[in-house]
Amino acid sequence: MIRCALHDSSFACYLQHDQASILLFPPSHMLRFLFLLSWLALAASASPAQPVAAAGTAIVIETDHTSLVLTVGDQQRLYQTYLGQRLAAAADLRRLPGSSQQAYVPAGLDNLFEPAIRLVHHDGNPSLELRYVRHTTAPLTQGQVHTTIELRDPQYPVEMTLHFSAYPAEDLIKTWMEVRHHEKQPVVLSRFASAMLHFEAPHYWLSQFHGDWAEEMRMQESELTSGIKVIDSKLGTRPDMYQTPVFFLGLDQAATETTGDVLAGTLAWSGNFQFSFELDNRNALRLLAGMNPFASEYSLRPDENFVTPAFIFTYSHQGKGLASRNLHRWARQYGVLDGTKDRLTLLNNWEATFFDFNEPKLDALIGDAGKLGVDLFLLDDGWFGNKYPRNGDNTSLGDWEVAKSKLPHGLGHLVQTATKVGVKFGIWIEPEMVSPKSELYQKHPDWVLKLPNRPEHYYRNQLVLDLANPQVQDFVYGVVNELFTSNPQLAYIKWDCNRMMTNAYSQYLKTHQSHLYIDYVRGLYKVFARMRQQYPHVPMMLCSGGGGRVDYGALPYFTEYWPSDNTDAYERVFIQWGYSYFFPSVAMSAHITSWNKQQSLKFRTDVAMMGRLGYDIRVEEFTGDELKFSRQAITEYKRLSDVIWHGDLYRLASPYEGNRAVVQYVNPARTQAVIFAYNLHLRTGEEFTRVRLQGLDPARQYRVRELNLMPGTTSNLPENNQMYSGDYLLKVGILASGPNPSALTSRMLEVTTL
Ligand code: DGJ
Repeated sequence: MIRCALHDSSFACYLQHDQASILLFPPSHMLRFLFLLSWLALAASASPAQPVAAAGTAIVIETDHTSLVLTVGDQQRLYQTYLGQRLAAAADLRRLPGSSQQAYVPAGLDNLFEPAIRLVHHDGNPSLELRYVRHTTAPLTQGQVHTTIELRDPQYPVEMTLHFSAYPAEDLIKTWMEVRHHEKQPVVLSRFASAMLHFEAPHYWLSQFHGDWAEEMRMQESELTSGIKVIDSKLGTRPDMYQTPVFFLGLDQAATETTGDVLAGTLAWSGNFQFSFELDNRNALRLLAGMNPFASEYSLRPDENFVTPAFIFTYSHQGKGLASRNLHRWARQYGVLDGTKDRLTLLNNWEATFFDFNEPKLDALIGDAGKLGVDLFLLDDGWFGNKYPRNGDNTSLGDWEVAKSKLPHGLGHLVQTATKVGVKFGIWIEPEMVSPKSELYQKHPDWVLKLPNRPEHYYRNQLVLDLANPQVQDFVYGVVNELFTSNPQLAYIKWDCNRMMTNAYSQYLKTHQSHLYIDYVRGLYKVFARMRQQYPHVPMMLCSGGGGRVDYGALPYFTEYWPSDNTDAYERVFIQWGYSYFFPSVAMSAHITSWNKQQSLKFRTDVAMMGRLGYDIRVEEFTGDELKFSRQAITEYKRLSDVIWHGDLYRLASPYEGNRAVVQYVNPARTQAVIFAYNLHLRTGEEFTRVRLQGLDPARQYRVRELNLMPGTTSNLPENNQMYSGDYLLKVGILASGPNPSALTSRMLEVTTL
């Protein structure tokens, strides 16, 4: 049905089709409109199977401050006509300049650059044409709006749906695609981006994050030059290990914390990923984000649905700080399990004992958890294996029974000890892995990823289990289920993953080896989903030999992640700073350890308070003052953790720009803020300027108070215990780093209206 009406003070006509309302032309374009109508009638009668489609259709995906506009153009192709700050007036959609940037470019026709999808039909034809068929826009719960756009090849029975979930209040868009076909034989997919986005700016600035074990999240920023820049992972299980699946794209200028147009993006996928940024001959930028197509040609059976993971992005007109807060707000609601809820403080035994423990030692450590006042004791690696007890990292993975030689009375005894001292009990597992020296390996050599006719290749003396195999999925789920069934009081799990894939070959997949990288992760998610169906809220930490696996594909099943094995507090400032761009503090585990005993316990404690606080240390070695300080710090942390976990984060001074880092968390009511100021390696006599606070209410009065002081010391901060207007704190600021700052010292401040 065609309806004409007054729309945003101008007259326009719409084609009402299925659930979609399609903008046609204003009457000034009536001739073209009539032409289109007759064309539609012709097309419909010539090919009744082809649905009606209309050029000029504008599909608007928008949040409170961002619009993405896709428009149907010639040959019913879909074009991206706008991405940026929200367009306030619907009438402006019709004025958008035409675009030659197809929204999702298939390979094989007239495409000249990197395609979003490449599909080879069963007859060997390597081309795909995607024509608009229809779209739907439906409100979901909590204000989200879901848009689907259906595209179809006119020659082959191949259909695709582009999905866009818009989260208006969080200013975030999640997008992915699914493709299916009804050909007689399988087709082969060799490119399958989750998203393609186009940009037009004079310059493009990419901030990327790279690392290695103990060196996670190092930021690099550079201007993109012509050609393709690729950031990817081919490690199979540990997408974050060398390159991390997150980035900022600054448009025109490199964005600062508070200024600049910037897109922050990440992929919800725990396996190989690829981001490519292609700057073409006209200085236009084409971004592709998705699973890495490397060695992953996917043979798709007739009627099978191939669904990609979601690309998640937010567009900020006010720099990286706002982009991070958007991501954090979204993540707490939707991206991390129970992100709006509380977390447990804990004592972990890994750095205190490594593999060298027994029952009395652990009883004593659990007692220390009680003395400290944390909520939980976490037993790490080394508690399992009977034929081959786990006394080092070269045996026993796969044999998940309690090692009687180390713990004769089982986990039950440790749970009892914990209950007596008033703490909960949690445990470490690494169920995706197997040691060659294990009963599991001997029983199921076919469950292991390894090439049949080549030597095994070890990393940390272990191999990866084949999660593409449903029997292995059952086994891995069974490990978790058995732990909970035999120990109903188990209150926490740390899920580790200490190697990447090499010599990747699945005995289960037989002739479909190129499905392995994708099917492994899909198998892993099946296990996670099953685990969460049965145990929906038990806190679990996502760990991968440090931060090898931190992403929004896995985090909906986990309450927190382990950023790095590197717990040197100076290094942690940078690592935590890096993660803070994309992940909320409620999900970031941060432990106080003895990695660098030269650093004061206060500095280490203040750094760990940036996230979910924990300890991994020999408490028995604390001095009286250190124990007193730590108990008090935990009490303060618990009082303020709601602001740290669920408040808005402002990064006030960057360690990349000077010898200090200052961060501030503000509660939603803007009545309370927590500030951490870390002085790093200062030059002799180096002083810092005042820091202007952010996010406060200018009209309110706030008191500044320094916290976390060692027993017997008092604050020398000039602002301590003084009242200031929010206006003053925002415009003049405070000397957060204090007078006469010295290297590797820190301050924790509370700013409150109370
Ligand atoms: C690597 C983790 O990152 C550590 O915290 C610890 O759990 C070890 N694995 C145990 O093997």
